[in-house]
Amino acid sequence: MINKCLFPVAGYGTRFLPATKSMPKEMLPVVNKPLVQYGVEEAIEAGLKEIGFVTGRGKRAIADHFDVSYELEHQIAGTSKEEYLKSIREVMKNASFSFTRQSEMRGLGDAILNGRRLIGDEPFGVVLSDDLCVAEEGVLAQMVKLYRQFRCSIVAVQEVAKEDIHKFGVIKGKELKDGIYQVEEMVEKPPADKAPSNLAIIGRYILTPDIFEIIENTPPGKNDEVQLTDALLTQAKNGCVMAYRFKGRRFDCGSVEGFVDATNYVYKNIYNVNEA
Ligand code: UTP
Repeated sequence: MINKCLFPVAGYGTRFLPATKSMPKEMLPVVNKPLVQYGVEEAIEAGLKEIGFVTGRGKRAIADHFDVSYELEHQIAGTSKEEYLKSIREVMKNASFSFTRQSEMRGLGDAILNGRRLIGDEPFGVVLSDDLCVAEEGVLAQMVKLYRQFRCSIVAVQEVAKEDIHKFGVIKGKELKDGIYQVEEMVEKPPADKAPSNLAIIGRYILTPDIFEIIENTPPGKNDEVQLTDALLTQAKNGCVMAYRFKGRRFDCGSVEGFVDATNYVYKNIYNVNEA
């Protein structure tokens, strides 16, 4: 029912300079796997196997990662090292990849609008792969289940500390069930004293395709960027947008602290366990 997932990966990743000067931040490895591969694996787990990337300049490494590397593969064919390619081969077998470009960094809303031709007229997932989510059942898979029930856009939220609230889009809503809210208010990066709640939007969305037209009619907002949050608020007012307090943990791998936390967590709880 939902088959496609969009990965906006055009951002500059300035918080991670100088590492991101010539390398996409989505290719930063958490232990031995690039961030973007974790995101794609989460999408595949949720049944979203048509992957669309909205890229920008200097992001070619992402396309190469999801393509065959003949020379390398030829070199290590038949050796014990082939094992290391297992996870990416699995991903490539199970998904297809398309690419489009965002020519100017005009914000997340604009990046998503650029992905329109890859999506067409159907509901789709969005993953911001610098948010690494670990959960027993993938966060996107949890959200797809919810979509089946509500048939409207869904944003993943988590409770955050007051001092961090200014970094996020924040929602206010009517709690329909434990952890499921019908969104009434939404504001991008508010100061702590103006935030409508402590429920912050993280980088996982299910969007209905009417969002494209709404984004087209959404003027630039905070930081003079076209904000997805502003478009979602319009959608919430016209119809319905749900917020879902997901089960699992999320690491902000766009920041150095979050990235180090994720690395430690994955090394201890996932990598070592799988490799043992
Ligand atoms: P961020 O706010 O994390 O920005 O964007 P950034 O440029 O990637 O990183 P910093 O803040 O400079 O360190 C959130 C997501 O939206 C995408 C980014 O690639 C990231 O996945 N994005 C943002 C775009 O694709 N295009 C944009 O114009 C803005």
